[in-house]
Amino acid sequence: MPDAQLLIDHTVEFVRAKFLHEGSGHDWEHIRRVWQVARALAQQTPQADPLVTELGALLHDVADWKFHGGDEEAGPRAARQWLQAQHAPEAVIQRVEAIIREISFKGLGVATPMSTVEGELVQDADRLDAIGAIGVARAFAYGGHKGRPLHDPNVAPIEHASFESYKQNTAPTINHFYEKLLHLRERLNTPAARRVAEERHHFMERFLAQFLREWDSQDVSA
Ligand code: ADP
Ligand code: NI
Repeated sequence: MPDAQLLIDHTVEFVRAKFLHEGSGHDWEHIRRVWQVARALAQQTPQADPLVTELGALLHDVADWKFHGGDEEAGPRAARQWLQAQHAPEAVIQRVEAIIREISFKGLGVATPMSTVEGELVQDADRLDAIGAIGVARAFAYGGHKGRPLHDPNVAPIEHASFESYKQNTAPTINHFYEKLLHLRERLNTPAARRVAEERHHFMERFLAQFLREWDSQDVSA
């Protein structure tokens, strides 16, 4: 078993180098915030293993299915490869793999329970980073990366009942708020994350109201 702090330090360097030039909303700064928030949640959660929480946060997006041809095992595989090379214990590797496998939002109609307490914390940290001002910025960064329009009032949001349908969605970015972001507040695991989500959620609601006003130039007098 390598020294836990050394393993975290090496993993930070590994992930930072991998994500430094990523422009789709999955950049190193996203990982850094998720790591920071997950660590803070772990400090308030005595039953959570800090090492598993931190490694799970650092590696949660290491090979996202969205950027690996839909391969959902790419992430767990990449994490296992890295952690084995670092001689991490098998029990730690398995729990980190589970976090990566279970963390993603898969559509409004699909439940995404986490099998470990560490996973609940990392999922909350990841979801907090998808809402609020940062969430708005990331949604449009992702939409821009995919060449999507900002908004199209003729395309109605969909309540995706399966992961397949959610994956294949190419709707305008505003729809993503109704298909995912406005629902994340209700899908958090911990009271601490729910408290943080309140203000972030209301900020998104204000943003959307103003966006739609400006879309129709309702704030411009004739
Ligand atoms: P997370 O990193 O929170 O697991 P995802 O991997 O699903 O989230 O997506 C990364 C970022 O891109 C998030 O901020 C998410 O809201 C955004 N995103 C994902 N899918 C879309 C989409 N269809 N339109 C706009 N933004 C999206
Ligand atoms: Ni993430």
